[in-house]
Amino acid sequence: MAGISGIRHPYHGIENVFDISHLASRDPLLQFTAWFDQIRENKAVEEPNAMAVATATKSGVPSIRMVLCKEFDEKGFLFFTNYGSKKGHELDENPKCSLMFYWEPVKRQVRIEGVAEKISAEKSAEYFYSRPKDSQIGAIVSKQSSVIPDRQVLDTQLKELQLQYSGNASVPKPDYWGGYLVRPYEYEFWQGQTNRLHDRLRFRKLNDGESFDEKLMQKGDNGWIIERLSS
Ligand SMILES: Cc1cc2nc3c(=O)[nH]c(=O)nc-3n(C[C@H](O)[C@H](O)[C@H](O)COP(=O)(O)O)c2cc1C
Repeated sequence: MAGISGIRHPYHGIENVFDISHLASRDPLLQFTAWFDQIRENKAVEEPNAMAVATATKSGVPSIRMVLCKEFDEKGFLFFTNYGSKKGHELDENPKCSLMFYWEPVKRQVRIEGVAEKISAEKSAEYFYSRPKDSQIGAIVSKQSSVIPDRQVLDTQLKELQLQYSGNASVPKPDYWGGYLVRPYEYEFWQGQTNRLHDRLRFRKLNDGESFDEKLMQKGDNGWIIERLSS
């Protein structure tokens, strides 16, 4: 097989640099919403809400995986999972995490850093019961991230649960399944450019005691500052 070092793909169709004056909003959530709406309308990405979630243990050992973002608003970014999974355990001991969206057709990446918290059992149940029954059963088939001897364990458990909850029987939402809300404290918007001088705009809040540097910072809305990072 040919080496991968030669894989190069020029970024066509990106006409303009992405500068602070080109932001749809000086509030990062509204800027995210603008990019998200564009990629959604574009339809070139089947799951624009797919995002990587990076977590780390208390001692700093990282791990990462994809999940689907089910809601985002001024409260944060919401995803659902099994609280007993590897990510669940890591978020329990260290709620700081990082989210990342990559929309390849438009060469855009958004990085978000924030703090995760469990949402209420009621809100998780609301979402659980809004899903088709098969998805509800799928969510409770096994203890996510546990080691199992073979695939058959899942198939057998699935059949048993389908039988148990056939007809009108409703599937109880287990306590170990629910949502995490990630409250962002930093965003970075990355726009790939044809000449590889990619644009990177970061939103963050000033640290305690840090003063505003007008050579390097611009004021965003709602207490955010905006900085350009080198590509
Ligand atoms: C596109 C995509 C979307 C996914 N969405 C979810 C999700 O919303 N929730 C979830 O728990 N796992 C989701 N998964 C599976 C996770 O990537 C992962 O395998 C699982 O959550 C176990 O991760 P952990 O062992 O690190 O906790 C998704 C995987 C892919 C590729």
